[in-house]
Amino acid sequence: MRRLQIKELKTYFHIDGEIIPAVDGVSFHIDRGEILAIVGESGSGKSITALSIMGLIKSPGKIEGGEILFNDTNLLDYKEKQMRQIRGNKISMVYQEPMSSLNPMIRIGDQVAEVLIIHKKMSKAEAKKQAIEVMEAVGIQDAGRRYNDYPAQFSGGMRQRIMIAMAIVCHPELIIADEPTTALDVTIQAEILELLKGLIKQNSMSMLLITHDLGVVAETADRVCVMYCGKIMEESSKAGLFKNPLNPYTQGLIQCIPRIDDKAEVLYTIGGNVPHPTDFPKGCRFSTRCPKVMEKCIAELPPLMAVEENHSVRCWLYDKE
Ligand SMILES: Nc1ncnc2c1ncn2[C@@H]1O[C@H](COP(=O)(O)OP(=O)(O)OP(=O)(O)O)[C@@H](O)[C@H]1O
Ligand SMILES: [Mg+2]
Repeated sequence: MRRLQIKELKTYFHIDGEIIPAVDGVSFHIDRGEILAIVGESGSGKSITALSIMGLIKSPGKIEGGEILFNDTNLLDYKEKQMRQIRGNKISMVYQEPMSSLNPMIRIGDQVAEVLIIHKKMSKAEAKKQAIEVMEAVGIQDAGRRYNDYPAQFSGGMRQRIMIAMAIVCHPELIIADEPTTALDVTIQAEILELLKGLIKQNSMSMLLITHDLGVVAETADRVCVMYCGKIMEESSKAGLFKNPLNPYTQGLIQCIPRIDDKAEVLYTIGGNVPHPTDFPKGCRFSTRCPKVMEKCIAELPPLMAVEENHSVRCWLYDKE
């Protein structure tokens, strides 16, 4: 069952008479119980995709077209008041930096309980009881006592667990996690990803996982969209993407993953720079950096083409005509 279906989403910024096509005709879906990762370099439009779904795009940004179907209803038709009932309740978000999202002056437990008081109209006592339960579920030991702590008394990893508690406490159908572990060290990262994945699978929730890190994708996702300069460049099952990456951009990203057995002293990087967003190439957006660039790539933007079952790529190398 489709939980979320995005069709031809366009979110543009208008600055000084110029247009920045941050999200430029993006389509994907997430089924119930599924984890879809969007991966791509900085500036590819991942967070703007997430904020578009949450209804949080502010001027000078604007959603110019497309559909965001959540359980088959287009969220773009919703008024702000309706979106407020969805946000934090049916769709919730986990951000990269837990410290900036938690109020340093309010007890941790009260911040979790507050979500229930707002969305589920619970009494204070009832909300506190459930908040402690969910704190236990995300691995906070001695949650009853730690309820009264302030954010500064928690480590980064524990704060991220609290953010996850706040995101799941209303039993949402979709969680959007935007770089949820980037600010954490590697061992804690793995624990947090494991926790998120477990919660999603146990509760048949769905997750949109945003990351620039293919290692995170490998550990967590079911399917993957590779994004570059506002466009999906490749979409595949996770296994298909790592076994047979088709787009030279994806191949480059995979080559960039550091490996323990790597003898090379210098890490591989994709050459060149991401083009400026007011000045994307007319053809393939990766054409300015692609090692396999052809004349056609410079002239014309390739469409996303289905190459195998559950595997599509936006690249002229795979054009069968
Ligand atoms: N408030 C804004 N004003 C103008 N342009 C913006 C704004 N926010 C984002 N953009 C543009 O949208 C593009 C995509 O931004 P987005 O934040 O989605 O990238 P991202 O893929 O999440 O990158 P990162 O990995 O760095 O978080 C940026 O390159 C930027 O040009
Ligand atoms: Mg981002």
